[in-house]
Amino acid sequence: MGRLVAGRSPPVGGGRSSAREPMTAAVPPHTVGGVKRPGATSGNPNERNTDDPASATPALRDPLLAPPPRRPGRRDGARRAMSTLEPVVVAEKLDRRYGEGETEVHALRDVSLAIDPGKLTAVMGPSGSGKSTLMHILAGLDRPSGGSVAVAGRTITSMDDGDLTRLRREHIGFVFQFFNLLPMLTAEENIVLPLSIAGERVDRKWLTELVERVGLADRLGHRPAELSGGQQQRVAVARSLVTRPTVVFADEPTGNLDARSSAEILALLRTASDAYGQTIVMVTHDARAAAVADRVLFLLDGRIVIDLHGATETEILGSMGRLEPAAA
Ligand SMILES: Nc1ncnc2c1ncn2[C@@H]1O[C@H](COP(=O)(O)OP(=O)(O)OP(=O)(O)O)[C@@H](O)[C@H]1O
Ligand SMILES: [Mg+2]
Repeated sequence: MGRLVAGRSPPVGGGRSSAREPMTAAVPPHTVGGVKRPGATSGNPNERNTDDPASATPALRDPLLAPPPRRPGRRDGARRAMSTLEPVVVAEKLDRRYGEGETEVHALRDVSLAIDPGKLTAVMGPSGSGKSTLMHILAGLDRPSGGSVAVAGRTITSMDDGDLTRLRREHIGFVFQFFNLLPMLTAEENIVLPLSIAGERVDRKWLTELVERVGLADRLGHRPAELSGGQQQRVAVARSLVTRPTVVFADEPTGNLDARSSAEILALLRTASDAYGQTIVMVTHDARAAAVADRVLFLLDGRIVIDLHGATETEILGSMGRLEPAAA
């Protein structure tokens, strides 16, 4: 087994992080430096204590989906990353306009946020509120009209394309709603594609573990057309994790899946966060999906308007109802 995800995460607090931007997110009082104390809650009676295994969501209690027993040391690795004070993604005053004049769309307005390491963050909001725009800008797939983004302590918004491509390869994974697998490649070739493109060696031990985690051991030779939607998305999740990136962004990863496959993908993302300390930011329209997250951000008209920590499904539905009264 190679380094853990947490070990690959930016040497939070050192290393390449000299250009680190200041942290902008408010630190809730029940946290120490943005890291939740074991057993602590925000005082919110609805808050799920994420340190208590008994509070896991039903999807995660499904024995088929339950993560295998943790090996000694792995959780320690995750905890090490989570015990740092530095966020791994920092956005400052992001602005994104499409078009000009009468047809101009102001998709993001003054968005600042900081994503803590090892956490699963959900992003919600009505259609057109700017969720995909935000994800693409945070992941370096699009550039803002104003403001900055730093990933792993490096400001990506001022990088040239070559540096950005290299940073994305090393530090960023992305899961798309429609899987975006290459049809002529097998599942295994799709999973290791980011390494093949970078000319990097495949860590077979890590690949074997990942493939077992996502339940694809007997499907590795299949092409995407020979896989179900849920299996294709599991390939895409494995592909996003194979480089052990600093952060994985997922834009509606369950948006094209049935309930069972959605639960599997959510359980995988939750497990990646819990077992490997993987930082994940996930867009979803589904309150149940968001309820497995440590934090839920709500966008409305291009702004972050609600920021919940450890929210229950009921609380999330309440926030959705306030933002989308017609849909609730
Ligand atoms: N390439 C583009 N050119 C022009 N306008 C765009 C472009 N991409 C997005 N927009 C507009 O920006 C706004 C935000 O779009 P975005 O796709 O980020 O919303 P979203 O919250 O992801 O919506 P959904 O839930 O439907 O996926 C919308 O008004 C959209 O029409
Ligand atoms: Mg979208």
